[in-house]
Amino acid sequence: MKTLAVNTSRPYEIQIERGALDRVGELCRQALPRARKLAVVTDSNVLPLYLGRTAESLKGAGFQVQCFTIQAGEASKNAEQLVLLWEKMMAFGMTRTDGIVALGGGVVGDLAGFAAATLLRGVDFVQIPTTLLAQVDSSVGGKVAIDLQAGKNLAGAFWQPSLVIIDPDCLNTLTDRIFSDGMAEVIKYGCILDRELFELLDRCGSRAGVMEHMEEVVYTCCDLKRRVVVEDERDTGARQLLNFGHTI
Ligand code: GLY
Repeated sequence: MKTLAVNTSRPYEIQIERGALDRVGELCRQALPRARKLAVVTDSNVLPLYLGRTAESLKGAGFQVQCFTIQAGEASKNAEQLVLLWEKMMAFGMTRTDGIVALGGGVVGDLAGFAAATLLRGVDFVQIPTTLLAQVDSSVGGKVAIDLQAGKNLAGAFWQPSLVIIDPDCLNTLTDRIFSDGMAEVIKYGCILDRELFELLDRCGSRAGVMEHMEEVVYTCCDLKRRVVVEDERDTGARQLLNFGHTI
């Protein structure tokens, strides 16, 4: 397992390991020693693939688990879904020492993260990103949000997770389209901050070629992002470099 320490205002670790999904229970137990209940938020694509293993591992570590599934896609990242999550999580009986787990891509992470930032004025939050884009970007750095009619990510917070668990094996089930979406972000890190990474990607030549190095590639991207976020947690200067390629 590779570990990165993110020394933001609320410090946390990023744990990266193939097969880590089966260890989320023990990892969450270490990061959230006082939590009894965990609300796991996922989406309709991820549910049949990874929810069973995740919930099993969490229950094995003694957590009481309730799962909340949203429809996959950006359209779910809205105020209505957020209120539904708040209400259902309170009905589950969550307290301030309990936590929310985001199992999925950026939509799930942003919505669940904003729920965590606001429920009971803030509860612990664990990111388990399952897309490449979420593994190398959105799960790290604490930006959480919903979309408004006025635009994307316009209501949100900086709410750092208590832990990020990355299992690169989850990437095997991504469609080529979604994998490429994440690769654009990986290549971005090479362009803005790391020539060696860029050259490694160039040599890989294909999805299968990158997958052979994926643990190292994800680690490198998270390490680059971690450094920028620690320097400019609230996105007022250096962090804007990460938006290269996000906004045309
Ligand atoms: N996704 C860019 C950032 O976290 O700042």
